Amino acid sequence: MIAPEASKIYDHAIEVLKENDLGTYTVPTKGLYPFQWNWDSCLTALGQSHYDEARAWTEIETLFAHQWPDGMVPHIIFHVWNDGYFPGPDVWQTGRPTPTSGITQPPVAGFAVRRLFERARDKELAARHARALLPKIDAWHRWFYDNRDPHGEGLVAILHPWESGRDNSIDWDEAFERVPTEGIDPYTRRDTQHADPAHRPTREQYDRYLWLVQHFRALGWDNSKLHDASPFQVIDPGFNAILIRGCADLAALADALDEPEIARANRVLAEIGLAALEGLWSATHGQYLCLDRTSGTLVDSASIGGLLPVFAAVPKDRAHEIARTIERQSAATRFVVPSHDPADPRFEPKRYWRGPAWLVMNYMIADGLEAIGETEVAAHIAKSSLDLITHSGFAEYYDPLTGEACGGGRFTWTAAMVIEFLRQAGS
Ligand code: DGY
Repeated sequence: MIAPEASKIYDHAIEVLKENDLGTYTVPTKGLYPFQWNWDSCLTALGQSHYDEARAWTEIETLFAHQWPDGMVPHIIFHVWNDGYFPGPDVWQTGRPTPTSGITQPPVAGFAVRRLFERARDKELAARHARALLPKIDAWHRWFYDNRDPHGEGLVAILHPWESGRDNSIDWDEAFERVPTEGIDPYTRRDTQHADPAHRPTREQYDRYLWLVQHFRALGWDNSKLHDASPFQVIDPGFNAILIRGCADLAALADALDEPEIARANRVLAEIGLAALEGLWSATHGQYLCLDRTSGTLVDSASIGGLLPVFAAVPKDRAHEIARTIERQSAATRFVVPSHDPADPRFEPKRYWRGPAWLVMNYMIADGLEAIGETEVAAHIAKSSLDLITHSGFAEYYDPLTGEACGGGRFTWTAAMVIEFLRQAGS
């Protein structure tokens, strides 16, 4: 049961999800993001499952229907033509039957599918859908370790900031310097026509985003070549934690569905990943840091990517330390969790992933903290998330100092996370 005062917010969240629902997939928000995005969809399905389980399964199945033959699940599926977004299929040129981008995104599918399966009211329906998705998610997990950890270090690299989902994080600044800007085709940004340019990445960052896309395109999107050919190879602890959690969750799901080989393989991947993650710990910052694989150095940037590992089964002392770091940051901002340490002079409270708070991050971090008994910090994050909605509506992200709505409006995954937070609080 949801408390009556929250039920209006709950109904409003469902309204946002339904208005962005195009039948078999949901756009993150109309205008700014008019196609299907990978991790948006998986997290959106969690919200949908509370009012329509069959629809939630469809959301993830639509995504996996566009998995590449090598196992990669692309970050955007361009289901229908729309010129409101740049870079569109004409820039990516991946040659897929339904156009897709050529890079991937944080693999939250394993986590989402296990959660859908375990909470399902219709168990038979859930088992059918989960069983069909199981080998596809398994293939995606294996793809990561084959293609993004070619030297067997136990951690996978992102080759483009868009893969992390945290496009313009301070984490990438140094490694991004290595990406040239010469020779890119002339282009017109669309994002700044839908959202305040002061909340978005800079022109110089866009030039580099596009240089990488053109570089990978020239290599025919051949994933066996891209890793070594990329001047940008960064190991993001948050991204790896999502993958590790996904592997562990897929293993548990495979056990429940009596698929021992998938269970064993994914359990091994999760264990290897957890052991390797330890090398990214920073005692100075009380969190994990990114590793620049090209230079072999840790990146001195205390971003939310280094707090997210609580979402995976990292050692308990690490997770408790992260809880303390979040408490420390909370004292500096009115709302949590800022995507970058507010004490860092590079912190920008309104600029996308350089400071603003995001409800999806809050949800995953709170989930991990809850699991290790940090219930007070988890509850504070959940409350702060709902306070942001009351304060500013269903925005893409929020200024953690003022609560101001930033980026796109009426945002799908924000609404999905609100449903999740409210259901957790009410049940
Ligand atoms: C964008 O276009 O802003 C996206 O974040 C890329 O996925």
